[in-house]
Amino acid sequence: MASLIPKSTIEEIRNSINIVDVIGKDVDLKKKGKYFWGICPFVSENSPSFTVDEENQRYKCYSCGRSGNVFDYVSEKKGLSFPQAVIEVARNVGIKIDSKYTENTGGHFNENELKLIELNKQASEIFTHLLLNTDLSTNALKYLLEERHLSRETIADFQLGFLPSQWSLHDFFEEKKIPVETQLESGIISQYDDGSFHDVFSNRIMFPLKDSYGNIVGFSGRTLDKNNSAKYINSKETAVFKKSKLLYHFDVAKQAAKVSQKLLLLEGYLDVIAAHKAGIDYGIASMGTSLTKDQLQLISRNTPKLTIAYDGDSAGQSATWRAIEEIKNFPHLQLEIVTIPNQKDPDEYLQQNGPGALKKIFEEDSTSINDFAFEYLKKGRNLENVGNLSDYTNDLLNFLNEHPDPIANDLTLKKLSDQFGLSRSVLDQSLKRNDIDVSKRQVRQSSRQNDNP
Ligand code: CTP
Ligand code: MN
Repeated sequence: MASLIPKSTIEEIRNSINIVDVIGKDVDLKKKGKYFWGICPFVSENSPSFTVDEENQRYKCYSCGRSGNVFDYVSEKKGLSFPQAVIEVARNVGIKIDSKYTENTGGHFNENELKLIELNKQASEIFTHLLLNTDLSTNALKYLLEERHLSRETIADFQLGFLPSQWSLHDFFEEKKIPVETQLESGIISQYDDGSFHDVFSNRIMFPLKDSYGNIVGFSGRTLDKNNSAKYINSKETAVFKKSKLLYHFDVAKQAAKVSQKLLLLEGYLDVIAAHKAGIDYGIASMGTSLTKDQLQLISRNTPKLTIAYDGDSAGQSATWRAIEEIKNFPHLQLEIVTIPNQKDPDEYLQQNGPGALKKIFEEDSTSINDFAFEYLKKGRNLENVGNLSDYTNDLLNFLNEHPDPIANDLTLKKLSDQFGLSRSVLDQSLKRNDIDVSKRQVRQSSRQNDNP
């Protein structure tokens, strides 16, 4: 456990920053009388109830009642613990906090890692600026606005960007006096054998990838070129970018999950953005890989329930099956499945049917894992054929044994018996026999593992 950050350090940090500047980055503040006034950043309102008291360095909202000092503000706004908020503010004013206070707080980056995060932040800001405000990105912006139907506001919310091929990120970093070692270590710049530098993400739409605390740790870039076989490329693994431990949009979604009590797992970045357009901010995505244990741990620590809504095509459905298998190891995580109709992905579904329809299927059209298995295991089988039906039934009984939920399984057995005219008592007996088979298999497996040290 980290020790408590000393009061004197906290005071020093507080004294070197003005709360008006910090909040002024998020809220349009106007001075009236003693206080600065603005629209509350925590609740939606039409007239300003949010005040900042410069003299006492505190804020208070007369609408939602929230109040506090600069650390409380950063903690509330970014979903950080108090010590994390202190570390975050300290970083902005360049005060170094002894590492013994920062361990295990999520702000545990060493100096080198902080440099990479700072570089990513600068890169992300320039990518967004280039996309939104320069002629070099006309095609990219047109694509996002007209073909993907994103608004400038959504682009800014998700900090999307573009790296034009006529522009040099390497030159930009040189101007900013970022050491070339850091540039190369970040993986955004690489060096050819002849010593020249080039921008890895040139001519790509940029998606910043963040850790659970909102630090930009890497990027994914989408090509605009339909003939490019690498539709997306990611930053290489660095000291701060570990793809298998991250989930896209998790920093925001974990806050939203406090209200929704669930997270929504999607396949792509643009599906997460589609969910946002439909009013759902608890969407997350793994970055083009199947779910890892680390990612599941993040999820299960932050929510009791996970909804999987991968693409409706057969690849998406197979990925759903694999995810269900992986989640077996997290029995406390309740799981439900949404199948997007007509083999679409959520973004395509939104384009065709609108945000309301997408919100509805996410919130109302989920099925249990048993119902998913019931349909999924039918694929590629002709169930008129006795052998196929028998294999199907056995696979389904195996699944039920591995997911022992008495009531759900009872309903599934009833459905199985009704749909195929199978005798319920035979199914019950087979389920028990299967149960023995499964446990025998497990015993055999574990003794094999014991044999092989
Ligand atoms: N992905 C990847 N590399 C690829 C293709 C996909 O890393 N060559 C990852 C990305 O994280 C992507 C996700 O897999 O968001 C889903 O892939 P896909 O369905 O092809 O992408 P979409 O999100 O639908 O992308 P788009 O809508 O831009 O075509
Ligand atoms: Mn897709």
